[in-house]
Amino acid sequence: MAEKSISGRGTWGSKIAFILAAAGSAIGLGSLWRFPLMVGRMGGAVYVFAYILAVFFIGFTEMLAELAIGRYSQKNPVGAFEAIRPGSGWKYLGYTGVITTIAILSYYAVVAGWAFGYLYKTIFGLFRNVTWESSAAIFDRFVSNSWESLFCFLIVMGITTYIISRGIQAGIERFAKVLMPLLFILMIFLAIRALTLPGAGKGIAFYLKPDLAKIDVKVLFFAIGQAFYSLSLGMGIMITYGSYISKRENLVSSAGWVCFSTTLVAFLAGIIIYPTLFATPGLTPEKFAPSLGLMFQTIPLVIAKLPGGFLFGFLFFILLQVAALTSTISLLEVPVAFLIDEHNWRRSKAALFLGGISFFLGIPSALSVGASTALTRFGFFNKMDLLFGNVLLAIGGLGVLIFLVYFWGIKPALEEIRTGCPRFRLQPLWIFNVRFLAPLAILILLIFIKTVTK
Ligand code: PFF
Repeated sequence: MAEKSISGRGTWGSKIAFILAAAGSAIGLGSLWRFPLMVGRMGGAVYVFAYILAVFFIGFTEMLAELAIGRYSQKNPVGAFEAIRPGSGWKYLGYTGVITTIAILSYYAVVAGWAFGYLYKTIFGLFRNVTWESSAAIFDRFVSNSWESLFCFLIVMGITTYIISRGIQAGIERFAKVLMPLLFILMIFLAIRALTLPGAGKGIAFYLKPDLAKIDVKVLFFAIGQAFYSLSLGMGIMITYGSYISKRENLVSSAGWVCFSTTLVAFLAGIIIYPTLFATPGLTPEKFAPSLGLMFQTIPLVIAKLPGGFLFGFLFFILLQVAALTSTISLLEVPVAFLIDEHNWRRSKAALFLGGISFFLGIPSALSVGASTALTRFGFFNKMDLLFGNVLLAIGGLGVLIFLVYFWGIKPALEEIRTGCPRFRLQPLWIFNVRFLAPLAILILLIFIKTVTK
């Protein structure tokens, strides 16, 4: 943060620094690990298209709304609602966001821990000559070893807490600037290799040729959930990040870039994973769909087929780790900013306290992927993801839209958006979406949640 704004809060050093940091928050395990997994669970291409539409019509609308609220109020989510509508009780929506980030961080960092484990497994050469069976076995053995997975989880939470305790620029900007573009380039290499595997065609058809008969409420609901998840929406991350953007910046193009780059990475992840899977003899989507290990089991297979595979594997898991960390730090930044702004906590104390809470809260998730039979049977991990990663994000997102339209007002919101963006060409579409399309779609799908989760 090179500058201080009027309110004394830090601001991002430049527009590109903000875009990269916001993309760093957005691009993470949601795009690389969760999106391909959801594609498998939801039956392929129909979900891919539903997701892209959800990003364009709902994700972009919501992101602009959150950034505008954040920049206008210069506050964390709780303070932001309170600043715009003092004494109205809207701040409780901010509290929900704060709690949701802590809950999501708790199980998200478990998966980030898996990425860490895969980094040293690659270094130890565990994936040489890997087959689907051995790859699946390596994953299962790893996640059902409670000490190893807890150790990796602890390392990730430790790094996240350390970075956050040092403050926003030192932590987030430096990381995101260099490594996000590198991740993207590496993924293009992997995608080309996956697409040229013999038998890749069936995977592409599964991924890109929609079977319209598969469209249902469930697909739509989880597509919106995934759009929120991967774009870091519905919980106040983008309100908090927006509060660090200077008034000169163009919120519209920034939001557009973040949505575009995140979607591209998610799309590429699927382009790497599905052709590889279908090119592996004897594998069908039904076999891998339920497993949380989809990405971890598949990537070693592509890497094994590349000349210099070790180097690619090593680089991929380093970059995956960085992508995961730029997201875990954004998740922790929301509750930390809240304790600093609203309760005058020291940054380092807030980071340590909340990092500790997330770690303890994450233990049952870490143990529920094989290590503890009871927790695994209960499906603790999946229940956390359904409740916080889908339902609460949707409720939070809906709340933000209702707040903006009825309690802040489209006019002041537009004024904020147009500061730094005098020509907002998508304005009529955004107004329509923020008023009708996005809230109605979320509301209707939330009402159907009972059928959706059966
Ligand atoms: N958007 C990031 C990801 O998809 O990995 C981080 C994240 C933010 C995940 C918010 C989940 C979430 F609810």
